[in-house]
Amino acid sequence: MEPSKLTLLLGLLAFLTFLASFSAAEDHFHEFFVEARPVKRLCRTHSRITVNGQFPGPTLEVRNGDSVAVKVTNREKYNVTIHWHGRKQQNNPWEEGPEYVTQCPIQPGATYTYRFTITDQEGTLWWHAHSRWLRASVYGALIIYPRLGSPYPFPMPQREVPLLLGEWFDRNPQDVMRLAAFTGGAPNVSDAYTINGQPGDLYRCSKKETIRIPVVSGESLLLRVINSALNQELFFTVANHQLTVVGADASYTEPLTTRVIMIGPGQTTDVLLTADQRPARYYMAARAYQTAQNVPFDNTTTTAILEYKNAASSNQGLAPVFPTLPAYNDTATATAYTAQIKSPSQVKVPTQIDENLFFTVGLGPYNCTVPNSPWYQGPNNTRFAASMNNVSFALPSTNSSMQAAYYGVLGVFTTDFPPVPLVQFNYTGNVPRGLWSPCRGTKLYKLKYGANVQIVFQDTSTVTIDDHPMHFHGCHSYVIGSGFGNYNPSTDPARFNLIDPPQRNTIGTPPGGWVAIRFKADNPGVWLMHCHLDSHLFLGLAMACLVENGIGPLQTVIPPPPDLPRC
Ligand code: C2O
Repeated sequence: MEPSKLTLLLGLLAFLTFLASFSAAEDHFHEFFVEARPVKRLCRTHSRITVNGQFPGPTLEVRNGDSVAVKVTNREKYNVTIHWHGRKQQNNPWEEGPEYVTQCPIQPGATYTYRFTITDQEGTLWWHAHSRWLRASVYGALIIYPRLGSPYPFPMPQREVPLLLGEWFDRNPQDVMRLAAFTGGAPNVSDAYTINGQPGDLYRCSKKETIRIPVVSGESLLLRVINSALNQELFFTVANHQLTVVGADASYTEPLTTRVIMIGPGQTTDVLLTADQRPARYYMAARAYQTAQNVPFDNTTTTAILEYKNAASSNQGLAPVFPTLPAYNDTATATAYTAQIKSPSQVKVPTQIDENLFFTVGLGPYNCTVPNSPWYQGPNNTRFAASMNNVSFALPSTNSSMQAAYYGVLGVFTTDFPPVPLVQFNYTGNVPRGLWSPCRGTKLYKLKYGANVQIVFQDTSTVTIDDHPMHFHGCHSYVIGSGFGNYNPSTDPARFNLIDPPQRNTIGTPPGGWVAIRFKADNPGVWLMHCHLDSHLFLGLAMACLVENGIGPLQTVIPPPPDLPRC
């Protein structure tokens, strides 16, 4: 072939590849319409914000390596954003979702398309609204299968069932939040828990819609359990059946056989179950694990039915077998279970620590000088607040912190979040009143790219001790240790598991205790870290890290997409 023709051919080829890169759109394209729909629960029809009219919302099923685009259209009167909980958006905080942290919200009538690629992750995650309390009804499963041809590291189950545990409020959850924000008191508790949106047999007017999971004798199931409840840790069990935990927060775990799991809001747990019992009907059930003291909580139980096919007709009249669930305050069971979760083999935990951080987490009312004001219905006429290192996190309203950081807009946040509490005290003892009152602020903590970080989250006993499910955006973290009482920096590190700790995106502080994590700050951007109880998040139980760019494009935040919403 003549050289000129060859050049032409090569040029044409390059042009075609260039064109293909445009038409080779994402592997998955979804449209999310955020809109109110009538939802009938507990004998009444309520209007709820949904995605595509579904409650829970649609399940996204992808493979490791796939690219995803989700076009979100806001047909509602509230601002909204969607968060891909547990997805590591490498160098790409723009697609993370928390409103006023990494993006301005999608305003009523507006549209935004989230685009991201799944890399190095398999298992169960979920997506949810990250705007006030909208996630009460705006959530769904995000399931990541292995690449085509690569197997699970456990026997292939015959069937897979996502189980989204949720919370139902008869009142509009937005109003519940607004009322609490107005009075300064504790928000109302939910009226029911749900499994895949249904409360189950133990609630009024719910029996007909109870979720049924048909199973054939001998079959094995992979249950992908997601705690999407707004404000409650839950125990979950299946009558007469053993559960084998094989994954948590989209990381595989050392197989662990148990009767019951405890799962905090934000966490996911993959469990294998074999239908090896007498053909019959068995309840799956979830109820509260409640650690805050002297506060009301929803003490009801949600159920679904595991129904052996061969038993469905013959046992129709018989009540399903009911499981034993731990008592709501069974911290011993919850802690023992959580502590047993490990990585399947040795992992690379950072050992040379560059940033040794210690964050107190807890409630702490603002003081009040106006007696009997409706604004101060917290304990002893105060207003409830929550904080980390006594800073109650305030979301900016004029911009997102990430957009402000990228464009150099001043006045949106400061970077003086304290690495340790300014005042040290007996965190889990009888805390003096003077130490109860946090300050509000949008304070970030700066981390150098690549820094090895250790954070100890210390629960405090101000107002009450509690299990705070702490969720970290942006970085995968190893949970290396936990304990009760005050963390002791000279003796506790000796007990850290630096061999095979689990990798998680959400981990609870034991009530009146501490939990330690380690991660490498290798994802530049602004990343929120917060309690996944929305009743605490809206009170300020959050902070954010600003991970600086490193060297070169691979260590630098990519430019924001042109359609990223502006405030
Ligand atoms: Cu699942 Cu910041 O949240």
